[in-house]
Amino acid sequence: MKQTLNWKSREVVHIYDEVNLWSAPFGRLLLENIPMMPAAQVVDIGFGTGFPLIELSQRFGDKSNIYGIDIWEEGIHRTKTRIATLEINNIEILEESATSIKIGDNQIDLVTSSLGVNNFDQRGDVYLEIHRILKKGGRLCLTTNPVGTFEELFEVFDSVFQEMGMEEEQSRLEEYIQHRNTEKGIISELEQYGFEVLKIKRDTTNMRFADARAILNHSLMRIGFRESWERMVREDKREEFFERLTQKIDDIVESKGEFLMTIPMLYLEFGK
Ligand SMILES: C[S@@+](CC[C@H](N)C(=O)[O-])C[C@H]1O[C@@H](n2cnc3c(N)ncnc32)[C@H](O)[C@@H]1O
Repeated sequence: MKQTLNWKSREVVHIYDEVNLWSAPFGRLLLENIPMMPAAQVVDIGFGTGFPLIELSQRFGDKSNIYGIDIWEEGIHRTKTRIATLEINNIEILEESATSIKIGDNQIDLVTSSLGVNNFDQRGDVYLEIHRILKKGGRLCLTTNPVGTFEELFEVFDSVFQEMGMEEEQSRLEEYIQHRNTEKGIISELEQYGFEVLKIKRDTTNMRFADARAILNHSLMRIGFRESWERMVREDKREEFFERLTQKIDDIVESKGEFLMTIPMLYLEFGK
């Protein structure tokens, strides 16, 4: 297997496309559902390399102000380069954690976050800040991938653990699967911070593979997932586990012609 990739490293930003394929369907879901309004004050939290920040700036136009908040230095650098290249003048980048936002109270019409806030550390503090900066009647719109993400893959994980008699790993897997948010969980958490859910859209996308090693070596898995998968398995059994896993997946490919992994998508819109 190739090495895992550190998303914060200088090199990784170069393989992060303008809109990578992982982010794109979630961005589409967001952009198809957010309220549009002229001369809006908009904040995008966790824009990575500029998505959907730059798209929002182009959709809302020059009468609107779009603030982008992120803490990823390399991502911010790349976003600024893109903003300059596109000669965009309605974006202001705030290089700070969303736990403390330099915007006054009741200023903002719309806060967006695609694959963002609900996974942040200290997200309670972030929700307090979003509530503070939103005008009364303002909206918080987010997208996320809830429980159910890659469930076909985790079924194979489970059956290999079963085969190898690894009960501890089986319960770690269950914990790992359940740590992901559910629609109900996110809504009840945001309700505690004074938000009211106004709109819910559910959709799915998928990733199809023709080879097991290709899954493990895919850049998305190397950046975002593989480290926790590896940590789930005790070290002395890790090699054997991944051998068996890839064999099982390749058997499925052999019989079905592909290995398909489902990605549920959720758009949630909240009012203040
Ligand atoms: C999974 S990425 C999503 C990026 C982008 N929205 C997309 O769809 O590709 C999450 C982003 O949130 C940022 N982030 C994490 N914690 C943050 C915080 N406390 N305040 C602001 N941004 C944060 C990360 O730096 C990263 O760029």
